[in-house]
Amino acid sequence: MSLINSINRERLPKHVAIIMDGNGRWAMQKGKPRIFGHQSGTNAVRTTIEAAAEIGIEYLTLYAFSTENWKRPKMEVEALMALLITSINDELDNLVKNKIKLNIIGDTGQLPISVQKKISAALNATKSCSKMTLTIALSYSGRWEILEAVKKLIKNNPLLDIETLTEAKFSKYLSTHNLPDPELLIRTSGEYRLSNFLLWQLAYAELYFTKALWPDFSKEEFFGAIIDFQGRERRFGKTSEQLG
Ligand code: IPE
Ligand code: IPE
Ligand code: MG
Repeated sequence: MSLINSINRERLPKHVAIIMDGNGRWAMQKGKPRIFGHQSGTNAVRTTIEAAAEIGIEYLTLYAFSTENWKRPKMEVEALMALLITSINDELDNLVKNKIKLNIIGDTGQLPISVQKKISAALNATKSCSKMTLTIALSYSGRWEILEAVKKLIKNNPLLDIETLTEAKFSKYLSTHNLPDPELLIRTSGEYRLSNFLLWQLAYAELYFTKALWPDFSKEEFFGAIIDFQGRERRFGKTSEQLG
């Protein structure tokens, strides 16, 4: 029996974020080049989007390429950029058909022009989709984003009275201004760190780590994470008794 039947549809996280890690190791274990792992990882991306849409997750955010990933060997970076283009080509029709709106966060100006063009076309093609918002973090890092937000805030409000600044006002300057904070963060591959992902937004997220390498991540793994989340008590600093 699939784990999907054990999910409480009344208590779904609105927003799930995922650090898709372990492609390289998955390929190496098979005696293949790292890029083979990235290619296989795109199947897990499709499966995960389907799983999230199937149970009615409203926001899914995937960490695909970090600011720090630019430091990888040139060949791997180029292969990843090429893979981005093929993935968008292959998946765009499916996104539109399933009413999934694409959203991109990160320093996209760093991406090759060919990738930037593909992204703009895909954003445009899915702009009126409203079943789920799929955010892909590309050339993204949490510190970059927070610093950008500070710069924009000061630029737009040179006479800002700092006493009036609140968390809510500040978050409007983040690239996630149109998304709720993720309630659940999943990281694959048995690494226990955030690697500069959504540092502001994950402040109170429930963290779920699985040893599965990203290309092996399945619908059942995803549903398992949701069930685990539903068993957590989210106290936000209060005591258990206060939650009633
Ligand atoms: C995640 O897999 C994909 C990216 C970071 C682009 P990795 O490429 O980090 O795989 P490992 O962690 O080396 O196994
Ligand atoms: C995090 O994975 C970034 C993405 C999944 C895109 P990394 O593999 O780059 O993270 P570290 O270097 O192990 O922390
Ligand atoms: Mg990794």
